[in-house]
Amino acid sequence: MSELYKIAEKILQNGKGILAADESTGTMKKRLDSVNVESNEKNRLIFRETLFSSNSMKECIGGVILYDETIRQKTSQNKSISELISESGAVPGIKVDTGAKMLAGSKEEKITEGLDGLRERLKDYYQLGARFTKWRGVYVISETYPSKLSISANAHALARYAALAQEAGMVPIVEPEVLMDGKHSAKDCYNKTSEVIKRCYDELDINKVDLKGTILKPNMILPGTNSNEKISNIEVAEMTLECLKNNVPSEVPGIAFLSGGQTEVEATNNLNQINVKNDSSFIMTYSYGRALQQSALKFWSKDINNIKGTQEVFDHRAKMCTLAAQGKWSEGLENSK
Ligand code: 13P
Repeated sequence: MSELYKIAEKILQNGKGILAADESTGTMKKRLDSVNVESNEKNRLIFRETLFSSNSMKECIGGVILYDETIRQKTSQNKSISELISESGAVPGIKVDTGAKMLAGSKEEKITEGLDGLRERLKDYYQLGARFTKWRGVYVISETYPSKLSISANAHALARYAALAQEAGMVPIVEPEVLMDGKHSAKDCYNKTSEVIKRCYDELDINKVDLKGTILKPNMILPGTNSNEKISNIEVAEMTLECLKNNVPSEVPGIAFLSGGQTEVEATNNLNQINVKNDSSFIMTYSYGRALQQSALKFWSKDINNIKGTQEVFDHRAKMCTLAAQGKWSEGLENSK
């Protein structure tokens, strides 16, 4: 088994999932502003180091996605952040795109940038301890979007990135995210997500990416946040599974969902239902940012020196997500702290 397959397996095994802590400095400022904590390098490190040294890192977290600033920081014990994560048995990862910019030729859509100089940056990240990478393509959804241009340009970039990541000895997370914003129905989300994912795999094939050494990070199939449609967790799970079984090649070892703005419990409940019904060969787990960190961030903001209390809040969330990744979660467990 090649090294890449082993890394992917290590990240995804036994109900483990991914902690997406790769918020850019701009996004992290928004998160910290929302809880009235000043966004500076020290505070960003304190919060992240708190999470990365929590008990649940060992049992629940298979990988952590870092941002450029964080992978270069040292802990209070003067260890590198990658060392801290590796010591808990998790794999350090890194976001390598440089963000989504307006797409020429489209009024409202974006293209993710960062291919120029990527080969050199990947070498640097490998030296810093990263063994997997992330690149996120974003797709607006409406009657006219995503356009063919956005679907094709983002798939092309994702595939070129994935090929370079594998060349550098790292597992690429391929993240095509169809956004939740909008009035669209779940059926529209199903159709557009299917088209987007299918196109990504066409491009990954052209770019000779070894799918066994990749992880897909998609959105779940949900109605838009401004739609009046309400669907049950069972319907979310059925539509999500159908979409993925029809469009993801079976060589892909695992699928790690983004939370995309769902509440912590919604994201957990939906993942659980997906696993209860999962009759595919794919491991289905989480790669959550907000749905793993929201409560912990809120708790921490009240007293940024309360490390232990913050870790307990995070540990609970990570445990719930890991149960959901095995189809063993139930609402009653949410109060069993
Ligand atoms: P959310 O789970 O908050 O959507 O973040 C996951 C992520 O990494 C988005 O790129």
